[in-house]
Amino acid sequence: MTLHEFAEPSAWLEAMVARWETLGGSALQARGSFSVSLSGGSTPKPLYQRLASLKWPWSATHLYLGDERWVPPDHKDSNYRMIHEAFQSTGARIERIHTEIGTAEIGAREYEKRLKAELGDPPKFDLILLGVGDDGHTSSLFPGTDALRENRLFMAPNFVPKLGVPRVTSTYHLLRFARAIWFVTRGPSKEPYIRALAKDDPAADFPAAKVRSDRGTMEIYHCSLP
Ligand code: 6PG
Repeated sequence: MTLHEFAEPSAWLEAMVARWETLGGSALQARGSFSVSLSGGSTPKPLYQRLASLKWPWSATHLYLGDERWVPPDHKDSNYRMIHEAFQSTGARIERIHTEIGTAEIGAREYEKRLKAELGDPPKFDLILLGVGDDGHTSSLFPGTDALRENRLFMAPNFVPKLGVPRVTSTYHLLRFARAIWFVTRGPSKEPYIRALAKDDPAADFPAAKVRSDRGTMEIYHCSLP
């Protein structure tokens, strides 16, 4: 896995912008659209704000949620709320996980149906952005949770005992079909995981280390400054 490491944020952001333009340009040329699954949390927010400032064909760019906390879309913890705030000025279509339709199980099933309708079966994203948590989780694939074993669904409900909350997450089965996967990380707490990912350490057993891609590229964009 290719590691791109930066000592300060502006170079980290500009490297991802350049790669976005390359990947997106190829997708738009090949398929007339650019489909991207976005990670939540706090790290990617400056990247999303920087991307939103680009002169870019946003009407042909379809943004999706890679995972979601089971809260209303205007809740402070909502990944959709963070992503919508960053990209709303672009007019890009953001495919929200409908957290108001009952349970995380129903929400995951309904979202997967939309993914298949938009991206085929299996759903193939041009790019999937992932974070890495301080416990090595990625998307909402947390250590010791049921969704880690999901090998049939593309989106799954996942109760996270340590948080006491349900989530909806991309599964490994979805990630493997992506044309490109980026881990977007920042700060010293992520270093041990980044090192293990960069050397494809077979002994690494945290959830982010189990992400595989059938035929896509996998890269890490890490900024050492918190
Ligand atoms: C979420 C994210 C999650 C995130 C990691 C890292 O919903 O929380 O999708 O997988 O990427 O928790 O979060 P930070 O980048 O904010 O540390």
